[in-house]
Amino acid sequence: MKNNSSPILSVQNLTVAFPKKGSFFIKKQASDQVLSDINLEVYQGKITALVGESGSGKTTIGNTIVGLVQNFTGEFQFDGTPYNPLNMSHLRTEIQYIFQDSLSALNPRMTAGQILNEILLIHQSDETVDSIMEQVDLYGEISGKYPHELSGGQRQRVNIARALAVNPQVLICDEVVSALDVSIQAKILNLITRLVRERNLAILFITHDLNVVKAFAESIIVLSKGEIVEKGTAREIMESPGHSYTKTLIAAMDS
Ligand SMILES: Nc1ncnc2c1ncn2[C@@H]1O[C@H](COP(=O)(O)OP(=O)(O)OP(=O)(O)O)[C@@H](O)[C@H]1O
Ligand SMILES: [Mg+2]
Repeated sequence: MKNNSSPILSVQNLTVAFPKKGSFFIKKQASDQVLSDINLEVYQGKITALVGESGSGKTTIGNTIVGLVQNFTGEFQFDGTPYNPLNMSHLRTEIQYIFQDSLSALNPRMTAGQILNEILLIHQSDETVDSIMEQVDLYGEISGKYPHELSGGQRQRVNIARALAVNPQVLICDEVVSALDVSIQAKILNLITRLVRERNLAILFITHDLNVVKAFAESIIVLSKGEIVEKGTAREIMESPGHSYTKTLIAAMDS
């Protein structure tokens, strides 16, 4: 294992404002700023959770990191080197994004095997479809099935396999288990934990659900209304939350 003391990915002073659109809801907010002064780090071999309620800006942070947001200010580093998200083709394979909606992320006209084969071909990988499927515990007939013929859990495994096929260093997992039953959630979380260990992956795990990450993530970042209100180890956050918003999130878990 490498030394994990310096972050593989870091974000400093990130602020995002979407262009103003004409709206009747002007009383809601004078400005369309959705993130302010976000600072975060992601480490190899560790799961960093980004937690906050719907609309707090979690996906916008992930999208900005991978260059899907135009209007931002802030600094980004990958492995200690600054990068511009709007010009990051050299990092496309290093940072992979997995979305909540496992079905729409996959081409409906291709089987799971074809989807994985395509990505292996594009990246001239030595791996095979079987070996990459095995790594996410998918076997046999699954490779001949189309996305709509797979269960949600199987689809999310295909998405994880596709992300792994390019051998990334960072995986951004955006609500990847939120649509799944609790028992299937646990299996996918176990898979992610194993991959972190085996591949020394760095994970930014985005979720609205503290239950999912309390025993799974090393550290937790709490986001509220576009601002980080608290950061700490999972134990610190769960056992002695410092911010009232975090306390509210924890209280909501028991109800
Ligand atoms: N492309 C966009 N244009 C304008 N506003 C946007 C855009 N994308 C997101 N927003 C706004 O930014 C805010 C944060 O949205 P975001 O999707 O990042 O939240 P989230 O924390 O991921 O929520 P959820 O848990 O529901 O996925 C919301 O108010 C949303 O309406
Ligand atoms: Mg989101």
